[in-house]
Amino acid sequence: MRSLCYPQRAMTDQDPTSTEIPEPKQRRIRSFVLRMGRMTSGQQRALDELWPRCGLDYTPEVLNLETVFGRCAPRMIEIGFGTGEALFAYASAHPEMDCLGIEVHRPGAGHLLMQVGEHRLTNVRASCHDAVEVLTHQLAPASIDAVHIFFPDPWHKARHHKRRLIQPAFADLLARVIKPSGILRLATDWQHYAEHMRAVLDIHPSFRNLADDSGYMPRANDRPLTRFERRGHRLGHGVWDMAYERR
Ligand SMILES: C[S@@+](CC[C@H](N)C(=O)[O-])C[C@H]1O[C@@H](n2cnc3c(N)ncnc32)[C@H](O)[C@@H]1O
Repeated sequence: MRSLCYPQRAMTDQDPTSTEIPEPKQRRIRSFVLRMGRMTSGQQRALDELWPRCGLDYTPEVLNLETVFGRCAPRMIEIGFGTGEALFAYASAHPEMDCLGIEVHRPGAGHLLMQVGEHRLTNVRASCHDAVEVLTHQLAPASIDAVHIFFPDPWHKARHHKRRLIQPAFADLLARVIKPSGILRLATDWQHYAEHMRAVLDIHPSFRNLADDSGYMPRANDRPLTRFERRGHRLGHGVWDMAYERR
């Protein structure tokens, strides 16, 4: 199996003007920074009340998703769901699908569970853990029908590009868990990251780009305009949607 460590920059490659402390050689690079964002009382209450039913604690063991959801149904996962706007909209529109959201930011998970509770959705589960570890250890091969990754952190600066989630090693993880003919959907408001995603995925042997010659998909109607995307619009950013089929 290929190493799950993201490529590390050689020490000699270090920008001499950078004040960053170089990462020790074997430490895995994280695609996120854990923000200490404020948890509202509603989010905390939703976590307290609904986590026992809808939350998945991390253990490095393969999950039995039929047991987790209490049925056998097609499954989608959303990675980095933020406050869960897109995940909630998708799960509401697709009661026939089981939906697992993975997000490291706990207030975001609380926000998602508030909506799940208010609307009594039974097809949503949440994990508050690094998606790299969840995909590596908790999801069985070919167990997922669709993966959504909307507006992953773009890590704008060149010296941070290595922290981007979409990298060859992560594409291998996605290829492992998505079923043949399953779909990977992505969106970003940062053109350089869109091009980076395509550079990684267009040449990946397990994925086929479903777009026309432009390489990008029209904006999907079922993807709600999230707060994050609205902010991008205000800043004058474009949005690039992509979709790949697992070969
Ligand atoms: C820019 S936000 C976008 C949120 C949301 N998808 C939206 O469109 O509003 C990216 C999110 O990905 C989460 N994230 C980044 N890396 C992650 C990882 N390895 N595992 C789980 N969540 C991650 C961050 O905490 C953050 O909430």
